[in-house]
Amino acid sequence: MAEAKTKQKKTPQILRGMKDILPEDERYWSYISKKVADMAHTYGYGRIETPHLEPTSLFVRSIGKDTDVVEKEMYTFDDRGGESISLRPEGTASIVRAYIEHGMLNRPQPVKVYYFGPFFRYDRPQSGRYRQFNQFGFEVLGEAHPVIDAQLMMICYNFFQEIGLPISLQVNSIGSPDTREEYQKALVDYYKSRKNSLCEDCKKRMTKNPMRLLDCKEQDCQLLAQDAPQIIDFLDEESNQHFVQVLEHLDSLEIPYTLNSRLVRGLDYYSGTVFEFWPEPFTAPDTGEEEKKEEAENDKEDNDNAKPGSQSSLGGGGRYDYLVEMMGGPETPAIGFACGVERLIKEIKNRDIKVPKRHDPDIFVAQLGDQARKKCLKLFEEMRRQGFNVAESFSKDGLKSQMEQANKRRVKFTVIIGQKEIMDGTILIRDMENGIQETVDFNKLLPEMKKRLEKYGVKEINGKNNNHNQEN
Ligand code: HAM
Repeated sequence: MAEAKTKQKKTPQILRGMKDILPEDERYWSYISKKVADMAHTYGYGRIETPHLEPTSLFVRSIGKDTDVVEKEMYTFDDRGGESISLRPEGTASIVRAYIEHGMLNRPQPVKVYYFGPFFRYDRPQSGRYRQFNQFGFEVLGEAHPVIDAQLMMICYNFFQEIGLPISLQVNSIGSPDTREEYQKALVDYYKSRKNSLCEDCKKRMTKNPMRLLDCKEQDCQLLAQDAPQIIDFLDEESNQHFVQVLEHLDSLEIPYTLNSRLVRGLDYYSGTVFEFWPEPFTAPDTGEEEKKEEAENDKEDNDNAKPGSQSSLGGGGRYDYLVEMMGGPETPAIGFACGVERLIKEIKNRDIKVPKRHDPDIFVAQLGDQARKKCLKLFEEMRRQGFNVAESFSKDGLKSQMEQANKRRVKFTVIIGQKEIMDGTILIRDMENGIQETVDFNKLLPEMKKRLEKYGVKEINGKNNNHNQEN
């Protein structure tokens, strides 16, 4: 009985590695999603939404069965019909499926799409790494020209620049599947005599996925990787030519980049150009108490995984010229990238980068008494329809608490209706800056407010759109 009681009392808790997005963070999310949508529109990308659940085989075939994502990180289960399905761990596989399934190969090429939404990886949670996280991604299917590679990197680079986030663009080419086969042999040869110095995961990688030996975060493995053969020396003529042209385009766009021969990416579908965006090192001052607590908790549990200096990229991508064909479509070159939104927001906050926030409301509608409340409820709707940016607190009875709300919301004016105003057909306007109150005819309120707000530079009331994008 006692045990039952204690059980009842336990409050439900969020799953590990998951995160609630609270109202105070809304401005970061709306800022980023608006920027992404604007960017997509400018460069001619159409929005695509694919389901969060897909057949498991889609990811196994595309991402690769020996990758960490498929082997250890997928949320996979049988549905009620007995089919094995998985929560999507990334977006590219679904885009390729949709491209083939909807016959997009018959549309004018290239097909350019973008997405923004949640993805799921049963990874070890730590700072900036979650089990449910959001990505926005851009994909171009049906075009092999190197200018596309450079332009895609530029889009992402400019995005970070415009936000004010210093990043370093890491670039590499991993060539064609043939190149990689030859290169992997050379890698295994190199590591054979050094196997004892490798971590346990890398020992397994030697047979399963040798290229992942290069980006292991263990210090000893990193040291060994420094002298490992470099893929750039194995590129065939075509891949080499392609890569040189990509770099030339980046140079002419004056986009700084670092050639990183150890950048291999963690998903099997890549070929040719690969790239990542790393945040420039930054020592955060004091993070919020809550965040600190959360990070401390995660670090305690995942001590082995939370190594200082381990690189967490903000975004990454590359060519996947063979994936459409591998999934049953015709030969279709393609390229794309995705960025992690939580990581982006974390960097923005750590660096105290200002993001626009929604405009404070201009007018608070306050009421005293039931009749006034009814009248104000209608007035609020009318003002909102007319494009005024209004606030209210109709469940409150006292004027004092409503004025507190009005102050908190930093309105310019409060309009008040009480018993007297109901009888007289008037309304009181209080200028919140100087406290001066004036009674006006209720029917003249809207033109009067428009006039007053114009003095504050609030424009376009009837044309709407006076309520966004004010800097902090
Ligand atoms: P990815 O490198 O696996 O690539 O993920 C892209 C970004 O998603 C990462 O750089 C990171 O910011 C974010 N991310 C990944 N895992 C987590 C996590 N557990 N928690 C928080 N953020 C995370 C892909 O997903 C490819 N589909 C990108 C692509 C598109 N390649 C071609 N087209």
